Amino acid sequence: MKRIYLDHNATTPLHPEVKQAIIDSLDIFGNASSIHPFGIETREKIEAVRSDLMAFLGASSGKVIFTSGGSESNNVVLKSHIRQQTTCCGQANVDQPHVITTAIEHPSILNTVQCLRNLGADVTQVAVDRYGKVDPQDVIDTIRPNTILVSIMLANNEVGTIQPVEVIGRVLKEKGIVFHCDAVQAVGKIPVNVEDLNVDYLSISGHKINATKGIGALYLGSNLSLCPLIHGGHQELDFRAGTENTLGIIALGKAIEIAREHGPIEAERVRNLRDRFHRILVENLDGVYLNGHPEDRLPGTLNLSFDHVDGAAIVEMAGAMGVAASSGSACSSRETTPSHVLSAMGLPAVRLRSAVRFSFGYGNAEADIEEAAGRIVTIITRLRAISPIRSGSEFSQAGSGSEIKERSN
Ligand SMILES: Cc1ncc(COP(=O)(O)O)c(C=O)c1O
Repeated sequence: MKRIYLDHNATTPLHPEVKQAIIDSLDIFGNASSIHPFGIETREKIEAVRSDLMAFLGASSGKVIFTSGGSESNNVVLKSHIRQQTTCCGQANVDQPHVITTAIEHPSILNTVQCLRNLGADVTQVAVDRYGKVDPQDVIDTIRPNTILVSIMLANNEVGTIQPVEVIGRVLKEKGIVFHCDAVQAVGKIPVNVEDLNVDYLSISGHKINATKGIGALYLGSNLSLCPLIHGGHQELDFRAGTENTLGIIALGKAIEIAREHGPIEAERVRNLRDRFHRILVENLDGVYLNGHPEDRLPGTLNLSFDHVDGAAIVEMAGAMGVAASSGSACSSRETTPSHVLSAMGLPAVRLRSAVRFSFGYGNAEADIEEAAGRIVTIITRLRAISPIRSGSEFSQAGSGSEIKERSN
């Protein structure tokens, strides 16, 4: 049975051109800090990717540093900012710094703001509407004299909803408040221009765009700095010590080049596949509900809930039938933990429990999509046939009161 991968928001396969770029670079081993030709060769490769990334992000000023991924980029901005305000890298100039974020961020933000709380920061998590969208006015209303940082994702990893980052950024810029954006799910899939978005910091991850795991980047606007998470040598403009991940950086550079050349066409192709898949499900099943914004959504993201079935059961059976998808509720040791994103969107317990995320991308062909949709229809039909739950009321009871867990991809 052919395996069909519909979990591109979790991670993506290596693009063949990225793979080739890595193979071609395997002998580039010099340390970029060395001043002999081996080091200079590596330095040139790294700096070429850095300037390509700046251009790709529409940054006419500021800088890009390479990190180990989206989680590190997010962590360093949040922690560094608080530390600059308090102890490590600078003088305290705000008694109790206030940070604003949203209820639907990735755990690399949510668990970091919990850490900031422990360090004495005050954190406000702005709510979202039923589509997972933040109202810019809610962010503005939460600003206080001691607000030092706002962190809002560009596109959500579970439902794909795209946030009005540009509007929020404009207001924050006028008020002189630093704005960080987690664009891990957006870069390469929708246009991302740091100047149009009015952001000061922007996080990127390689493995979400067909590059390797363990490489990411962070854009910082001009005049901004960071207190490093990793102290040591002078790499990455003194913001991140450690010998550079040259092959990862080359892989990211190739992925960015592919996104620059083919991004819009690929996004359209992926959107069509996603919509075709959705249509097949809706035409063959009743009780199918879209979670997330109907229009302002990543082209490859489809989060659906299904009447009378458990999302985790669908994902498990789909896996057994060769289709990789992901459950809206993380399921560990058979305990059901509803998604914090869907919960924040106010979905009823039955829809939380039955949510499944299908995410599409490079490597998916139309025939695969039809085959996968057919398998999912079969699975849900079978599950419904054996399900003792018909009204949904038992489901709501089972779903209520369970612990809320963030999903981590
Ligand atoms: C929105 C978002 N931010 C951050 C991350 C973390 O990125 P990484 O896996 O590169 O650490 C992810 C990964 O799932 C994500 O979806």
